[in-house]
Amino acid sequence: MIEKLNTIKEQAFDEISGSQDMASLEKIKIKFLGKKGELTSVLRGMGQLSSEERPKVGKLANEVRDSIQAFLDEKIFDLKQRAAEDRLKEERLDVTLPGYKMGVGTIHPISLVLNEIREIFGGLGYSVAEGPEIESDYYNFEALNLPKDHPARDMQDSFYITPEVLLRTHTSPVQVRVMEKVAPKVPVRIIAPGKVYRRDDDATHSPMFHQVEGLLIDREVTLGDLKGTLLAFAKAMFGERVEIRLRPSYFPFTEPSAEVDISCVMCHGSGCRVCSGTGWLEILGSGMVHPRVLEMSGYDPEKVRGFAFGMGVERIAMLKYGINDLRLFFDNDIRFLKQFK
Ligand code: DAH
Repeated sequence: MIEKLNTIKEQAFDEISGSQDMASLEKIKIKFLGKKGELTSVLRGMGQLSSEERPKVGKLANEVRDSIQAFLDEKIFDLKQRAAEDRLKEERLDVTLPGYKMGVGTIHPISLVLNEIREIFGGLGYSVAEGPEIESDYYNFEALNLPKDHPARDMQDSFYITPEVLLRTHTSPVQVRVMEKVAPKVPVRIIAPGKVYRRDDDATHSPMFHQVEGLLIDREVTLGDLKGTLLAFAKAMFGERVEIRLRPSYFPFTEPSAEVDISCVMCHGSGCRVCSGTGWLEILGSGMVHPRVLEMSGYDPEKVRGFAFGMGVERIAMLKYGINDLRLFFDNDIRFLKQFK
C-alpha cells in the first residue's frame, strides 16, 4: 500500500507538471483526489490493514493528498500568473506616444453675427424674445395687417403644413406674440432672432435663413428714435465710418415704412461693384408700427407708438465678412468656416 501511495504521488506530479491549462488540471484533481479518485480507493482498502500499519499508511495518505493538492495549487497559480503576464504584454500601452489631435470646431459665422447683434442691442436695453418656427397664418400674416388676399403675401411664399399653419416667413410674428403678452404695458424693447423659411433658392436666397426682428413700444416714439437706434447699430456692427439712409418703402405692418441702407462697406460711398455703383447697401426693413397692428395686439394706438425693424443675418454676415455666395454658409466646408473668429 505504501508503494501504491508513492506511485500515485509520482504519477500525479508527472501529470501536473505536464499540464498546460486549467481544464486538464481540473481533470487531474478529480482523477487523484476526487471522491471516486485513486487516493480514495486506496484509503477504502485500509480496513484490511493491521492496527500497526493503519496509522502509518493513514499518515502517508494524508501527506500524499496534501502534497498533490499543494503542487496543484502552485501550478494553478503559475498558469494564472502567466496568463496575466501574456495579457499585459498584449495590452501594452505606450503612454509616451503622441496623442491623436482632436479637430476643434469654430463658431459658425452666422452665430458670430447673431451673438454680436444680441450684444449690441443688449447694450441698448433690448432683451431677447423667441417664437415658434412653425407658425399660424394668424401670427405670420393676419395680425401683421396682411389679410388673406393681400398681394404682399406673394413675396413671402412659404412651406405650408396646413392652409392655416406654415413655416414662418419672417420673425415679425414674434412682435405680435410679445405684444399680446405684455399689452398694455410699456416700454417694450425686444429683439427676436431666429430661422425663417421661404420658397427661394439662389446665390443670395436660401429656403432657410436667419432674421433678427426688433420692436420698441413706448408713449413717445418717433422716426428719429428709429433712425438713431439703427445708426448706432450700423456703426457698432460695421464701424464708425458707416452712415445710414432711410428710403421710403412699403410694409403692411408699418406706416410709414423705410428700407435702410448703409454706406458701402467696400468703397465707403464712392461707388463700386459691391454696391453696383450706388454707394449704398440695403440691410433691413423698418418703420413705425401700424396702428392696426398695435390695436390687434391689445395696445391703444392713441396712447402708444412703436417702431420695428427686421434684418437678414446672412446678408449682414456677407457684408461684414465680404462673402459673395450665401450658399457657403450651409455647405459646411471646414476650410470656409474656420476663417471666422
Ligand atoms: N418682415 C419683413 C421681411 O421679412 C422685414 C421687416 C420690415 C420687419 C419692416 C419689420 C419691419 O419689423 O418694420 O421682409
